[in-house]
Amino acid sequence: MLIAGNWKMNGLASSLAEVKALRQSLEATPAACDVLICPPTTLISRLAPETGPKIAVGAQDCAPKSSGAFTGDIAAEMLADAGASWVIVGHSERRQYHGETDSLIAEKTKAGWRAGLKVIVCVGELEAERVSGKAEDVVGKQLSFLADGATAANMVIAYEPVWAIGTGRIPTMEDIAAMHGFIRKTLAAKFPGEGDNMLIQYGGSVKPDNAAEIFKVKDVGGALVGGASLKAKDFLAIIRAV
Ligand code: 13P
Repeated sequence: MLIAGNWKMNGLASSLAEVKALRQSLEATPAACDVLICPPTTLISRLAPETGPKIAVGAQDCAPKSSGAFTGDIAAEMLADAGASWVIVGHSERRQYHGETDSLIAEKTKAGWRAGLKVIVCVGELEAERVSGKAEDVVGKQLSFLADGATAANMVIAYEPVWAIGTGRIPTMEDIAAMHGFIRKTLAAKFPGEGDNMLIQYGGSVKPDNAAEIFKVKDVGGALVGGASLKAKDFLAIIRAV
């Protein structure tokens, strides 16, 4: 399993104390899963030396190109250079607030691989799409754009129902199982020999008190955690729930 913290647009130098606390605990009692923190870009190079071998560092987005006149954009190569080994692409907040399309997300995925990063690709439906019975259609279409060349070692899928993000609401365990099963089937068909082994994380209001139940669901390969990853105590409780 992979438990990843997406700090989103949160975190200043003072947040490094949380990472130190996390590291101390994981060095004393190793985690039963892989652990990743994706801070804002400004903190990657400061956080990387603090994490030690037990915690990987990732970015929350990357540009498709490796360099050039793209003011404000950050290339995957720059993230790797700063100490990242992972990048998240296609988060619903990028899709929603920055108009990112499935084909752009595939370009970003390839950019991550080009720079040697492992990539978490986020998919998930809106509430209206779930209510109208279209959740699998929506996620299936997002998955149909996944970049060629994906392997169990270079890509993880994060299923994040948009209506569960930051709301405290989560799908039923049956709905999580059904969607993860659907994603597994789709990956296995699209990437023969690899899709069966790709991790499929669940994301959306994962907290210390619901993590253990979610991790028992078949085909759940960890979590992409937002709010509850900001404090070492909560994030640790989720890691320990594995
Ligand atoms: P929350 O855990 O705050 O709901 O956020 C989930 C998320 O979007 C992680 O990428």
